[in-house]
Order: sequence, then structure tokens, then C-alpha cells
Amino acid sequence: MSDDLIAAANKVRAMAYAPYSGFQVGAALMTPGGNVHVGCNVENVAYPEGTCAEAGAIAAMIAAGDTKITEVAVIADGTDPVPPCGGCRQKLAEFAAPDVVVTMATVDGKTRSTTVGELLPGRFGADHMDRAIPGDS
Ligand code: THU
Repeated sequence: MSDDLIAAANKVRAMAYAPYSGFQVGAALMTPGGNVHVGCNVENVAYPEGTCAEAGAIAAMIAAGDTKITEVAVIADGTDPVPPCGGCRQKLAEFAAPDVVVTMATVDGKTRSTTVGELLPGRFGADHMDRAIPGDS
């Protein structure tokens, strides 16, 4: 299962727009219905405006009408598998349960698997806002 997902991430990685870092990243998300959504990083000359591969894949997933992630693959050309950045961990946790497996891969075949919960322990969730009343401030 994750081999196919890594292959999908690797394919979209080639489309990454990363002229500033030179670091191309691909991400692929599996949904409960078996759909695969992919994304790559898109950099910008105003550096903070760049977006990560995971964010692109999530945007594609939402645009396609899916809202649940059952598996994640991320691939880049590193010495070691590259983990999702902090912001992407929170973004993934919005749509993936803590036990969802995240497989990180290098283009030369190294892989490491972890879970969304291990990547983001103590995450901020909607339950932390249980006293908030929208519009009341
Ligand atoms: N990058 C991702 O696409 N995903 C990550 O989780 C880590 C970083 C991208 C952002 C930027 O275009 C490049 O890698 C270098 O940081």
C-alpha cells in the first residue's frame, strides 16, 4: 500500500517549483475511499509565501471533496527521509487520526515510518476551545 503512495508522491515531486531552495518535495495522501491526492512544494520569491508539498496535497484533497486521510507519504532527495515541518504536522492532524501512518522516503529508497500522533504529540485541537463562543470578544 505505502509503496504505491510513495510512487505517487515521487511522481508529483518532479513537478515541484523550488528554484530558491532547490529542494523538491512530493506528498501523497490516501483517503478511506481509496482516492490518492498529491501535492508538491511551490516556492515564491517572497520566501514565506511558499507552500509545502503536504499543504498542496491537502488543498487538492479538499478541492476533490475528501476530508479524511488514512495514510501519508512524503518524499524528497535527502540523505535521510525528510519529516513534515511543524506547520504541516498541524495541517495533517486536522484530517488524520493520531494513528495514521506517515511514510517518509528518499528518492534513493530509504524509508522511515511514523504516525501523525508521534509527529505531533499534544496537538492543539478543537477541544481546547470548548469555552469559546464565536463572535464573543
Ligand atoms: N518542504 C515541504 O514541502 N515539506 C516539508 O514538510 C518540509 C519542507 C519544502 C518547503 C520548501 O519549498 C523546501 O522544502 C525547503 O524548505
